[in-house]
Amino acid sequence: MDIDDREVPWEEGQTVLEAARRGGIEIPTLCHHPGLEPYGACRVCLVEIVDGGRKGLSASCCLAAADGLRVVTSSDRVLRARRVVVGFLLDRLPPSSPLRSLAPSLRVSPAPDETGQDDCVACGRCMRACAAVGRHAISFAWRGTRRRPVTPFEASSPDCVGCTACAQVCPTGAIRAEAGNDSMLLDRWKTRVPLVLCQACGQAAGPEPLLARAGDLHQQVYLCAACRRRHAVRFGSGWPVRRAAGPSWPGATPCLPSSAPGHRPVAIVAHLRGCSGES
Ligand code: SF4
Ligand code: FES
Repeated sequence: MDIDDREVPWEEGQTVLEAARRGGIEIPTLCHHPGLEPYGACRVCLVEIVDGGRKGLSASCCLAAADGLRVVTSSDRVLRARRVVVGFLLDRLPPSSPLRSLAPSLRVSPAPDETGQDDCVACGRCMRACAAVGRHAISFAWRGTRRRPVTPFEASSPDCVGCTACAQVCPTGAIRAEAGNDSMLLDRWKTRVPLVLCQACGQAAGPEPLLARAGDLHQQVYLCAACRRRHAVRFGSGWPVRRAAGPSWPGATPCLPSSAPGHRPVAIVAHLRGCSGES
């Protein structure tokens, strides 16, 4: 496959965007997230197919890599189309910081920042993350410029398990998860989720619905990630877990510590669909 007149290696099942990034060719994106299925909502990642496929513009995040395909990522036609897309999005959502940072490279002038406007770009990442990790608690409502992800009837959602996957993948920071002493508020969804407290240190240790779903609440002693690590050997409960960089929820991404005396690291990191990080 050829991207910008460069032979680029690719693997079966990869998209043009993935192959390009692997080959060091940058293509801007907005709705794409490497942990989620391609969606093709924003069209910011447009490239032009010049040979080996149906010629014309195509979203690289949804375009399958193939032998003999030739694409260009920054032809006049591509840049013009991206400029139009980003211009429209900026007109609608002037405060959105990812859009404002894309604008100069495409020579689009951002409209004046107007605070208080909704920062959602309707990319659908939150909805897809909720379907994959949470419990389908949100979906799009309305059409056209009013299209937005919402909970049913825009009311507090009884289905939300508090995994915060939506807040972690949102490219614009339009969703905030604010943890209090014994509950966490997901502001965009007007939903408050109770937190389970660690029975050793009393700190918030995890969202109750998420732990209940994972079966963790049946444990006789419930500990937060830090206390579990401290007490793991004493309780003989297996490997201690350690939080890896990335998600903001403590213990969301456990991995085996290489520093545990007498232990060899044998496996690293699992994103556990439908389970708490502790599980
Ligand atoms: S809230 Fe964030 S993740 Fe959800 S659609 Fe809007 S911009 Fe995308
Ligand atoms: S990143 Fe490809 S369409 Fe949004």
